[in-house]
Amino acid sequence: MTDMTALATLSLDLPDEIATQTLAHQLAPLAIDRPRDAPADAPPGPAAGGRIHLRGDLGAGKTTLVRALLRAAGITGRIKSPSYALLESYKISNLYFYHLDFYRFSDPREWLDAGLRDIVRHDALVLIEWPERAQGLLPPPDLDVELVYAGEGRRAQLTAFSARGQAWLTALNTPDAASPSPRKPPPGGA
Ligand SMILES: Nc1ncnc2c1ncn2[C@@H]1O[C@H](COP(=O)(O)OP(=O)(O)OP(=O)(O)O)[C@@H](O)[C@H]1O
Ligand SMILES: [Mg+2]
Repeated sequence: MTDMTALATLSLDLPDEIATQTLAHQLAPLAIDRPRDAPADAPPGPAAGGRIHLRGDLGAGKTTLVRALLRAAGITGRIKSPSYALLESYKISNLYFYHLDFYRFSDPREWLDAGLRDIVRHDALVLIEWPERAQGLLPPPDLDVELVYAGEGRRAQLTAFSARGQAWLTALNTPDAASPSPRKPPPGGA
């Protein structure tokens, strides 16, 4: 990661898979610019979109986090891991979601063949696993999420590289600032 200046960082303990999913549920409304108390099928807001890099060893929880984020954003169909296809895409309202996995990426020509240059420029929500395998081809993300094994769980190191990413981290860090009303029970009940 060259020439990238971190604007803010946040470190979180994720003791189990639920904690990883909870982080995704907190990130989703920020990334799709939907008020926290809006119904789950409310359309994305005008500031929706951005690029999130997910780094970490095999099995660290990158796909787990992306899948939970896509679900929380309102994607209802099957969510496949893009390990083989390189790219899976989704759409809600006028917002595109691109989930990429560069684990098997070897040749930059694949990048051009798959039309990926356009994708990272597109006004979309782009979620990239193994971004380091496409180093030099990717612009800095709004947010980098590194997942590190920590005992039975994981530790997440979040780093913002843009004003948008910085705003997301600020919101993650101040969970009650955006919702002055009493906390609602988590969705899924009754
Ligand atoms: N915070 C956590 N603590 C413990 N286990 C977790 C946590 N988050 C996810 N897991 C588990 O770890 C595994 C993560 O698998 P996942 O496919 O998400 O990893 P990945 O980082 O995408 O791997 P790959 O590099 O192969 O794509 C799953 O079995 C999941 O249940
Ligand atoms: Mg994965």
